[in-house]
Amino acid sequence: MASLLHRSRASLPSAPTLLSRWFPHVQLPLVISAPMFNASNGILAAAVSRAGGLGIVPGGWELAPGGVHLKNLDAELRAARKALDLDDKPLTPMPVAAGLVLCKADAARRFEEGVLPLLVEHSPQGVWLFAPDPDVEAEAQREGAPTPGSLRSIIGLLHHAGFVVMVQVGSVAAAREAATYGADVIVAQGIDAGGHQLARTASVVSLVPEVKTMLETDFPEKEIALVAAGGIVDGRGVAAALVLGAEGAVLGTRFLLSKEATTHAYQRKVVAETADGGLSTIKSTVHDQVRGTTVWPALYDGRAVVGTSYSEYSSGVPVEELQKRLKEGQERGDHSRMVTWAGTGVGLVNEELPAGDIVREVREAAKKRIKEVQNLV
Ligand SMILES: Cc1cc2nc3c(=O)[nH]c(=O)nc-3n(C[C@H](O)[C@H](O)[C@H](O)COP(=O)(O)O)c2cc1C
Repeated sequence: MASLLHRSRASLPSAPTLLSRWFPHVQLPLVISAPMFNASNGILAAAVSRAGGLGIVPGGWELAPGGVHLKNLDAELRAARKALDLDDKPLTPMPVAAGLVLCKADAARRFEEGVLPLLVEHSPQGVWLFAPDPDVEAEAQREGAPTPGSLRSIIGLLHHAGFVVMVQVGSVAAAREAATYGADVIVAQGIDAGGHQLARTASVVSLVPEVKTMLETDFPEKEIALVAAGGIVDGRGVAAALVLGAEGAVLGTRFLLSKEATTHAYQRKVVAETADGGLSTIKSTVHDQVRGTTVWPALYDGRAVVGTSYSEYSSGVPVEELQKRLKEGQERGDHSRMVTWAGTGVGLVNEELPAGDIVREVREAAKKRIKEVQNLV
């Protein structure tokens, strides 16, 4: 299989960070846009990378051959290549990553015949992995071998093809596993994050430093970059992530209001109008139960704005009734029961801007904040 990346891996040996060595287009401090299925897309990812950030194209989880999300990923990677003016240069790796969710075991087990050829064809420089299926992982551990579909086997396949591999995790134990299996980038996702995450996790304030210490202690010889995700929406958050030991920050919720995002109009309004994220968002499995989404393993829940369905659930309405009300609402064209996945930083997200402007603004604000902080010591 052709190796796509060795050129860029070697191209900037003296770069200030590992990520700027592997993605030479990036500017520091590094702003990464999260993959957000149904909300971010190839054009958004391209705009982020064009502005010196790192854009991640969302892939979803129905990734077995013929899977609906696979077709969507194909279209979005194509759109990213076009937006980056690379569509007449098919062999040039794209300065974006593709973000895949691995929790559908059948798709993960068929990774080599399903998603891998597509990645090789479109050649994003990186691949982001999230939420491996716990049963597949347990099977791989029992057998002591890289069972097909396991994180270890998928990282192996991606490395063989030359991709930089990013793995989003929510605990020190999961970060250690990802590092053992060869992850190049650990994305430490804290409890403030919007969307799906480990039900039991910690804030980036404690997660990032402990993961950093673990990487330095257990993997002193390995070059593994660490970035932070969860509740980071502006330059202050990015500056904090750097101080905690990360070399960049991932922003999801902030990009929900970018012009390029495919965020639904109702969700845009909710994000723009919601304040005080600790009170106004909630981590729960109820959001998925009401929508009838059963794909997420029991270890995960998701953070979303408290909406009509969740409020009614809290006052005792059974899930089956809420599913019925959602369906009836949808049939009437009433979107007020839509789930708006968002992090606790949502209160600071109220302005719609082009994604590139968000990247530049956040980067400059982070630099400014770091300079201000120097006067405090
Ligand atoms: C609307 C939305 C959709 C998301 N979808 C995905 C996804 O498809 N894949 C993934 O790995 N993470 C997904 N996430 C989680 C992000 O990767 C990231 O952890 C999170 O956005 C960071 O927190 P923040 O939203 O507070 O910035 C999603 C987050 C949101 C808000």
